[in-house]
Amino acid sequence: MNIPVLTIDGPSGAGKGTVSRAVAKKLGWNYLDSGSIYRSLAIAALNQSADLEDEAAIADIARGMVLEFDCGDELVVRLDGEDITAQLGLESTGYAASIVAALPEVRQVLLQKQKDFKRLPGLVADGRDMGTVVFPEAENKVFLTASAAERAKRRYKQLIEKGIDANLAQITTEIEERDRRDMERKTSPLTMSSDALYIDSSDMPLNAVIEEVLNLIR
Ligand code: DC
Repeated sequence: MNIPVLTIDGPSGAGKGTVSRAVAKKLGWNYLDSGSIYRSLAIAALNQSADLEDEAAIADIARGMVLEFDCGDELVVRLDGEDITAQLGLESTGYAASIVAALPEVRQVLLQKQKDFKRLPGLVADGRDMGTVVFPEAENKVFLTASAAERAKRRYKQLIEKGIDANLAQITTEIEERDRRDMERKTSPLTMSSDALYIDSSDMPLNAVIEEVLNLIR
């Protein structure tokens, strides 16, 4: 049976999560936040004080970790039975995730875990390589981006609203560094699939992006 898949790829902070969740909710489809899988692995590796660049060791941790996703209104993630939701969004977790995500063996190990999310009635998959590597067969693909300055501004606002101290210049530098690592790695770098719809959300409210993506499906 054909299970429809919509992939939304792009750099961090472009609004993929917000857009993907809204579209999945509207369509009643399942949602895969693939970044949270790399983030969970990063947490597991940090918990074990593993060397984040030791490919064999990190791949072993990836093979052994048991992840549970509760996709209610708020995503809850458990790693080996322990709720790690609060740690998932930390900058330090994202930074560590981008290091382990560059390891080819790790990406190979995590491939099937991601493919398993493809279930009826459909799937919205958010990440860097959803349309190019994990679900190349998807009939609907979006590449969602925004300028680094705009993404940094959004991230800064989010942190300040949460009462977390933040520095805009530092966030901008970190975003640029993360982009570089995601785009320059050898395995599954962040690239746009040739059959994807390109959306630059720098000057667009996210509601307009959500509408544009829903129009693509309709
Ligand atoms: O989308 P995010 O910020 O949660 O992703 C965290 C890191 O995981 C990001 O730096 C790159 C990596 N990632 C990846 O390599 N492939 C994906 N499909 C999703 C995330």
